[in-house]
Amino acid sequence: MDAATGLLCYCRAGFEPDLAAELQEKAGAAGLAAYARTERNSGYVLLQGADGDALSRALPWRELVFARQKLVLLAELRDLDPRDRIAPLLVALREAGGATFGALLVEHPDSDEGKPLAGLARSFGNALRPALRKAGLLAAQDDARRPRLHVFFVAGDHAFLCMSDPSDSAPWPLGVPRLKLLADAPSRSALKLDEALLTLLDADERARLLHPGMRAADLGAAPGGWTWVLTRHGLHVTAVDNGPLREHVLATGQVEHLRADGFHWQPPRPLDWMVCDMVEQPRRVADRMATWLREGWCRQAIFNLKLPMKKRWQETALCLERFTAQADLPLRVRARQLYHDREEITVFAAPAPRR
Ligand SMILES: C[S@@+](CC[C@H](N)C(=O)[O-])C[C@H]1O[C@@H](n2cnc3c(N)ncnc32)[C@H](O)[C@@H]1O
Repeated sequence: MDAATGLLCYCRAGFEPDLAAELQEKAGAAGLAAYARTERNSGYVLLQGADGDALSRALPWRELVFARQKLVLLAELRDLDPRDRIAPLLVALREAGGATFGALLVEHPDSDEGKPLAGLARSFGNALRPALRKAGLLAAQDDARRPRLHVFFVAGDHAFLCMSDPSDSAPWPLGVPRLKLLADAPSRSALKLDEALLTLLDADERARLLHPGMRAADLGAAPGGWTWVLTRHGLHVTAVDNGPLREHVLATGQVEHLRADGFHWQPPRPLDWMVCDMVEQPRRVADRMATWLREGWCRQAIFNLKLPMKKRWQETALCLERFTAQADLPLRVRARQLYHDREEITVFAAPAPRR
């Protein structure tokens, strides 16, 4: 067993270099010398070399773009004996301070190599939970005020012990919100906007910023997934796209379809929302989104930036910098690679609340 310090973050498999670059750059900007360790397609990145709590404070989960989850490392357990993986884990937890955790998650990387560990994670969790409770290391009932314990198996005999702060981490196992695609959704893209509304806004913002009767534009709307999501929240939508929209989306009576260029069209009067899923160069999209906010054509926006194949963190940082510089007003900006995103990230932006 090795004591370990630093962070362990999950990401979409294939995006490890991007998450590693993001973590390292942000730690450096906070004055913390840390280095990222990862393997391509592993689905996770370790950030080590500095104290885990200090790194965690410097890198709030909500501000990370490529991390699905952010955990503070407690220990690394190697060469685990399959006949008794529990005993060394209890020893490691005692050595790490012996705190009582509020919940237990036994997880594995969301990668080709990690997925076969799902069965082990499930059965080990069932065995470990009562053992932790008996040892006073886990609350009798889930308690959201206490840190969560994560056991992250990367192989049958190799696991990381980590903890997460419920107010500074994803609430879902593996950092993945499970959303169901409804049968009448016009496209799978609908899940992206559902997930963006769930993860980029908090419950209070969803109630305040999204209600029936509001008006929205959807740039690059066809076949209508995002427009359909907005109509289900009761919004009236101008859907801009030269492509066709699905009939049942138009049949809601809440949608006007305009066959126009989303880079040139502007609304005749200010709208509550603008969403944009146009497949285009991310810098070009970022520039157009900045114009919308600067000119006050919408109060808030959610848009996707399609990323290049390489140096995706650098392109992300550059696009977000251009966007905020050109919008030229104080903004709240949250960007994330969602579970339902592929080679892209999703951004929420709105003017910062006045103090
Ligand atoms: C990924 S699809 C959008 C999917 C949609 N969000 C949904 O949920 O069904 C991208 C769309 O952007 C549109 N698009 C690309 N460039 C455009 C432009 N300059 N103006 C308007 N639409 C554009 C394409 O026609 C395409 O329908």
